[in-house]
Amino acid sequence: ERNVKIAPSILSADFANFGAEIRAIEAQGCDWVHVDVMDGHFVPNLTFGPQTCKAIRPHIKTVMDVHLMIAPVDPYIEAFAEAGADFISAHVESGPHVHRTMQAIRGCGVKAGIALNPATPVEAVEYLLDMVDLVNVMTVNPGFGGQKLIQSQIAKVERLRAMIGDRPIHIEIDGGVDPTTIPLVRAAGADVFVAGSAVFKGGSVDQPEVYGDNMRKL
Ligand code: DX5
Ligand code: ZN
Repeated sequence: ERNVKIAPSILSADFANFGAEIRAIEAQGCDWVHVDVMDGHFVPNLTFGPQTCKAIRPHIKTVMDVHLMIAPVDPYIEAFAEAGADFISAHVESGPHVHRTMQAIRGCGVKAGIALNPATPVEAVEYLLDMVDLVNVMTVNPGFGGQKLIQSQIAKVERLRAMIGDRPIHIEIDGGVDPTTIPLVRAAGADVFVAGSAVFKGGSVDQPEVYGDNMRKL
């Protein structure tokens, strides 16, 4: 059986308490911490940049998984690498030279991820598979937490898993992950599950066990 990882997205955390929120989810057994960077241009929402990543890095004992929803992306790779990212994912739709973007990420000594929007076919990443460590399949349109998983993406994950073959590449599911959707995408071949609202919902840093209960249901 594949080793499943839960990566809570701090997009649904209290932005004034990242340190405490991260300690709470890690104490409750999360595997990675997923960090959603948005620029108000590639996606219709704004979050934070490399300085915030650098500030939260010392609070993360596990893995800092940075998802860049920004365009252009190349001018910022180095800054996110210096901020201490373990993984940096960029979107295949972010520009015409994502091959170069993947080279740049690995060139900084960081694991490279390629992310696909829901309308993008798996073929878009075919010629990148020998240079990435992770494929992020967006199961919602990026920009906001709390949306419903788009069912058509389950078949896409199956096709991607077949295309990847025995390469050591994670398939990460991002958007609408909850206890009802996770078994479907897991059976389709995904191994990393980003969950924002499903983990943080109903909880607070004062009651970290709520986050843990939510994670254990996934
Ligand atoms: C969406 C982000 C996701 C999001 C997931 O643009 O990339 O990581 O936070 O949130 P939920 O789990 O609430 O769908
Ligand atoms: Zn994300």
